[in-house]
Amino acid sequence: MVKVSDSPVLLTVDKLEKRFGGRRRLGDILGGKSASVLHALKGVSLHVKKGEIVGVVGESGCGKSTLGKCIIGLQRPSGGTVTWSGGRPVEQLSRFERSTRMQMVFQDPYSSLNPRFPIGGMLKEALATHRTTAARIDLNAEVDRLLGIVGLPLSLKQKYPYALSGGQRQRVSIARALAVKPELIIADEPVSALDASVQAQIINLFEEIRRQLQVAFVFVAHDLNVVKRVSDRVLVMYLGEIVEEGTKEDIFSTPRHPYTRALLSAIPIADPSVRLPSTILEGELPDPHDTMAGCAFSSRCPYVKEPCRQSHPGLTGVSDTHRARCIRLAEI
Ligand SMILES: Nc1ncnc2c1ncn2[C@@H]1O[C@H](COP(=O)(O)OP(=O)(O)OP(=O)(O)O)[C@@H](O)[C@H]1O
Ligand SMILES: [Mg+2]
Repeated sequence: MVKVSDSPVLLTVDKLEKRFGGRRRLGDILGGKSASVLHALKGVSLHVKKGEIVGVVGESGCGKSTLGKCIIGLQRPSGGTVTWSGGRPVEQLSRFERSTRMQMVFQDPYSSLNPRFPIGGMLKEALATHRTTAARIDLNAEVDRLLGIVGLPLSLKQKYPYALSGGQRQRVSIARALAVKPELIIADEPVSALDASVQAQIINLFEEIRRQLQVAFVFVAHDLNVVKRVSDRVLVMYLGEIVEEGTKEDIFSTPRHPYTRALLSAIPIADPSVRLPSTILEGELPDPHDTMAGCAFSSRCPYVKEPCRQSHPGLTGVSDTHRARCIRLAEI
């Protein structure tokens, strides 16, 4: 197990905001309302250390992908900052520099791989595009090295994406991300489309890459078992904000936020030493266009009391590593 808690901070995200919309939806028009704004990220703050794997979990629509895209620059935040190590705002890095420091791996490698390129050519292109003039490298040898890292046979160089299995395609997209020697990879549901046995192999590969190359990951997933396997620290998101954060042990052994508990009680736990109160996640996720005065989870929380609906809770420290956004932490 790699100890990353003493490693330097690579990336800092501070009070990140993302709002979508401003266009009138059908419901707005029918209700005679003005255009509604969807607040997808509501002041998200986090940091990632060198070689650290930070898991991000939460239900569909809570803002996980938006967070990843804002960090890497695929979407422009509406507020807040993303700062690279040494204090440089990411938006001030050139596109080239940003892409050599951070890469993104997506859920569906088929749509992110160009079907007209053989694997070898695709990796060569990724290497050539990001090569600085000073660094002359042997592209063929480098392609072989990348395939070796991701555990693919060299015979695959002549093959096209359609001829590969889902797991092999995801290995190719990881190899392509590694071509630029990034320090951080944002992996957005990278194993969700794969069979369980292939998932396990790809997760092992991420761990191996982190161990060998000291690459950090922001690992987005809705499957808690996957996040538990891979993460050092875990962020739990609900409706655009972090409701609980902690080490893997904090989150999986002593979850404090009612939402985290509900998520965990919904998954089968293989470890008999872990006993969680069973909480059923009831009710629908609120419409993200609606604004709520109090705690975002209050409409579904089994522990809700009147004050929860009135003021919005901040993140409260449970320990040095563990924080949760709930005003009733001491009681529940
Ligand atoms: N380009 C966009 N325009 C308008 N709304 C958007 C856009 N992208 C995302 N959203 C909205 O922002 C919210 C967060 O979406 P996001 O895709 O980040 O969620 P997610 O946690 O990644 O969900 P999933 O688990 O389904 O991938 C959702 O309500 C979504 O509908
Ligand atoms: Mg997503």
